[in-house]
Amino acid sequence: MSAPTEFKLNTGTVIPSVGLGTWQAPPGHVKEAVKHALKSGYRHIDCALICKSGDEVGQGIKESGIPRSELFITSKLWNTYHDRASESLEQSLKSLGTDYLDLYLIHWPVRLVPNETSNLLPTNPDGSRSVDREWNQQETWKQMEALHASGKVKAIGVSNWSIPYLEDLSKTWKVVPAINQVELHPYNPQHDLKKYCDDKGILLEAYCPLGSTGAPLLKDEQLIKIAEKNKVSVATICISYQVNRGVVVLPKSVTPERIADNLKVIKLDDEDMKTLDGMAASGKQQRVNTPLFGWDLGFHDWYGVGNKNAPSADAVTVKA
Ligand SMILES: NC(=O)c1ccc[n+]([C@@H]2O[C@H](COP(=O)([O-])OP(=O)(O)OC[C@H]3O[C@@H](n4cnc5c(N)ncnc54)[C@H](OP(=O)(O)O)[C@@H]3O)[C@@H](O)[C@H]2O)c1
Repeated sequence: MSAPTEFKLNTGTVIPSVGLGTWQAPPGHVKEAVKHALKSGYRHIDCALICKSGDEVGQGIKESGIPRSELFITSKLWNTYHDRASESLEQSLKSLGTDYLDLYLIHWPVRLVPNETSNLLPTNPDGSRSVDREWNQQETWKQMEALHASGKVKAIGVSNWSIPYLEDLSKTWKVVPAINQVELHPYNPQHDLKKYCDDKGILLEAYCPLGSTGAPLLKDEQLIKIAEKNKVSVATICISYQVNRGVVVLPKSVTPERIADNLKVIKLDDEDMKTLDGMAASGKQQRVNTPLFGWDLGFHDWYGVGNKNAPSADAVTVKA
């Protein structure tokens, strides 16, 4: 038996189980990465307005010659657009050179108020992020539902939403999110969130599946052992782990051989899945992507406001 190459969304349409991540791909490399990925067999590309690489992704798609109808393209509403969802979408559509998205996500459940410091990552005079602490995320979701009804986005979902945030949204949602894209890898499996989303019919997507920049997870001894046993790369184990547990996975690479390798998914046996499922609980629990919005996002292990395990602000790299 092999691992699934696609999953079904709660909209009834299918989503390829592996998609190309495009975050932190250096300018000039994204177009080639997208072209190479499409040539290698990828049909799913994950983008975001904040990555500012939509133009290159669009060019890569165009030059690949693959018809739009064969592709699954995702983009995300950025934090400074929670009150202007349609404007954010139009920008993404324009840069990607398409008139619809297969999936549109709210990137974070955090509204930032744009000001003269920046349009996308505005700060307050004390350097903290200019978070709108009064904003109701249910209002953002209403706009997402309207975009869905317009047909410009075939499915809508969220990203970086914890159980308490989903619970709050569920009080008013008319359309159940199709996807929740969150940080998932063997050091951060989020089994509780997985169970919650399974019960609600929300499919999870794994970002940072290799541990993000420099793929630090690939040096883990336990993962190396599993890779040796299966005679595949450690990246294949990390990627296959997500697909085997029913999660879409979004590895990023701009390196041609890695792009091709990352599309390979194998069926893992019960013993390997047990090891992978238990790695975090055995003492390796760790997140690699913790932007300092100064806001408690409701994840029990999150370095947010109110989390007693939070390190000092400058101990965490600011990424967004
Ligand atoms: N929704 C969100 O808030 C959010 C946050 C973070 C990420 N994401 C999405 O998830 C995607 C993936 O996350 P990520 O980019 O942070 O990290 P990742 O995919 O876990 O890791 C990317 C790193 O691993 C390297 N790599 C890739 N394949 C490899 C292989 N087979 N062997 C060795 N090294 C390999 C890449 O290097 P090279 O590129 O140099 O090959 C890069 O340094 C993003 O691109 C983005 O689309 C979403």
